[in-house]
Amino acid sequence: MSLTNPPSSSGSLSRTRVGNLKRSHQATVDDAIESRRPGGYTSKVRVRDRYNIVGFISSGTYGRVYKAVGKNGKKGEFAIKKFKPDKEGETIQYTGLSQSAIREMALCTELSHANVVQLEEIILEDKCIFMVFEYTEHDLLQIIHHHTQPQRHAIPATMVRSIMFQLLNGLLYLHTNWVLHRDLKPANILVTSSGAIRIGDLGLARLFYKPLNSLFSGDKVVVTIWYRAPELLMGSRHYTPAVDMWAIGCIFAELLSLRPIFKGEEAKMDSKKTVPFQRNQMMKIVEILGLPRKESWPGLASMPEYSQLQTLVLHRQPSHFHRGSNLEGWYQSCLKNGGYTSTSSAGTPGADGFDLLSRMLEYDPAKRLTAEQALEHPYFTNGGPISGNCFEGIEGKYPHRRVTQDDNDIRTGSLPGTKRSGLPDDSLMRASKRLKE
Ligand SMILES: Nc1ncnc2c1ncn2[C@@H]1O[C@H](COP(=O)(O)OP(=O)(O)O)[C@@H](O)[C@H]1O
Ligand SMILES: [Mg+2]
Repeated sequence: MSLTNPPSSSGSLSRTRVGNLKRSHQATVDDAIESRRPGGYTSKVRVRDRYNIVGFISSGTYGRVYKAVGKNGKKGEFAIKKFKPDKEGETIQYTGLSQSAIREMALCTELSHANVVQLEEIILEDKCIFMVFEYTEHDLLQIIHHHTQPQRHAIPATMVRSIMFQLLNGLLYLHTNWVLHRDLKPANILVTSSGAIRIGDLGLARLFYKPLNSLFSGDKVVVTIWYRAPELLMGSRHYTPAVDMWAIGCIFAELLSLRPIFKGEEAKMDSKKTVPFQRNQMMKIVEILGLPRKESWPGLASMPEYSQLQTLVLHRQPSHFHRGSNLEGWYQSCLKNGGYTSTSSAGTPGADGFDLLSRMLEYDPAKRLTAEQALEHPYFTNGGPISGNCFEGIEGKYPHRRVTQDDNDIRTGSLPGTKRSGLPDDSLMRASKRLKE
């Protein structure tokens, strides 16, 4: 797999990291092969020889994430994501590494951009993979949450603009390199203490340069439902970069309103394992954007769930739906509630912000803005320079990431991650032991 550099239009924030990622990965593999013993592979490099584990951050979809600091002269803070091998059946029988771990490793070793999380190294040890990333102090979920405490106070408009610009730069880089992220949501958008945005969690990311491969088969869960594009809800089997742009539109809306814009409830798969129509999620979108129409979305009538969409109308009073889109009404009340005005301390994303939002939350994926087009939108080109530090000029500090000491033994403790919606597994944390650094 070889990747191209991002186009120069990716803006002043783009910076090329010429790392020796490939080499360090190769070295790790070579070491493992060198020290092969009858019982299997072991690696010479051991996580605990290189890092001190400071605590536990999160139990995610496929494994656990720990905070660590470098040792023996290695400086800096790191997040170590531990993947355990897939197991089969009741008796432990290793079948190999999860597809997600392999994808994330393959992609992360090759990707290098200021707005994509930086992989430090990969260590193989005792049938586990440890992916070592640079540590990021914040993420967008945590920042949004902070702005709802103790009462709601808007994220300053300049900060939202910097976040969006950096996010789109990172996404343009991924899309230029044929990578779809497919799970963009606030928890996966990392923010460093110096205000740099890093797109993280490439566990669901896929290359899309082989368009004949249906990206639908095999994956039970793709993209957290609140950020799921309408074409996926309508049963589309082929993914395009437009699915990521829809999610970015949802994140933009959430940064401004501090609530998910389309907060639907996921319909679970039935016993026959048929994938259900996500009626409730579609309804949430329709309530704000109006019903999608064949005239403005030509592909609509031939989508697998089109008949289901018709039944949405039958079950409700026609007056329940706005004739057209009410996104502008939603946006205006969001500005009002957030205190976004040109004279307020929060500033305002203004009419350009609405125009950008409406073009990202466009039903027809073919008409939806691309990352490149979005970066050229007046929301970014008007209104002066954009800082590469989203916290620039912001008063007050955001709280540090929560790190617990319950389970900071990276060797043991952890059960293999179970597939879940990406929320931290709070059942594994005891509140009393949560440390605020
Ligand atoms: N580089 C990092 N620095 C600090 N925290 C991180 C880092 N990467 C991930 N995390 C934290 O761990 C959580 C889970 O990691 P993520 O890569 O999203 O894996 P999953 O596939 O389990 O969701 C994130 O939501 C974030 O809170
Ligand atoms: Mg995640």
